[in-house]
Amino acid sequence: MSNSQKIVNYQAINFAQKLSLFSEQWQPKVIAQINNHQVKIVKIEGDFQWHQHKDSDESFFVLEGCLRLDFRDGSVQVNAGEMYVVPKGVEHKPYAASEVKMLLIVPDGVINTGDGEANERTAQGDVWI
Ligand code: NI
Repeated sequence: MSNSQKIVNYQAINFAQKLSLFSEQWQPKVIAQINNHQVKIVKIEGDFQWHQHKDSDESFFVLEGCLRLDFRDGSVQVNAGEMYVVPKGVEHKPYAASEVKMLLIVPDGVINTGDGEANERTAQGDVWI
């Protein structure tokens, strides 16, 4: 083995273990990189803000709890073990009556609050856990 050979970490990424490492809500943490997409876990509770992602679809995989995604013309309930993809350019607002733990797969650089000005709900991107 040469010194320059990459050390491979043959360890599965465990969602529950990663989720146990933080308690703050609305602050997605990166757990893996897939090409130009990042896999993130996040805990949310309560109401978010209306926003859209002009250039990117957004996927929500619910691990625990029950997520409601509101749209201007309806809503969808996403339970644990289910997923939903919000198409690019569609206004949406996540809502969780009680804490929801979920996984997101989004392209690098996509901002949680969508397009436009950053505000107090804009999370720092690229925070690994
Ligand atoms: Ni979004």
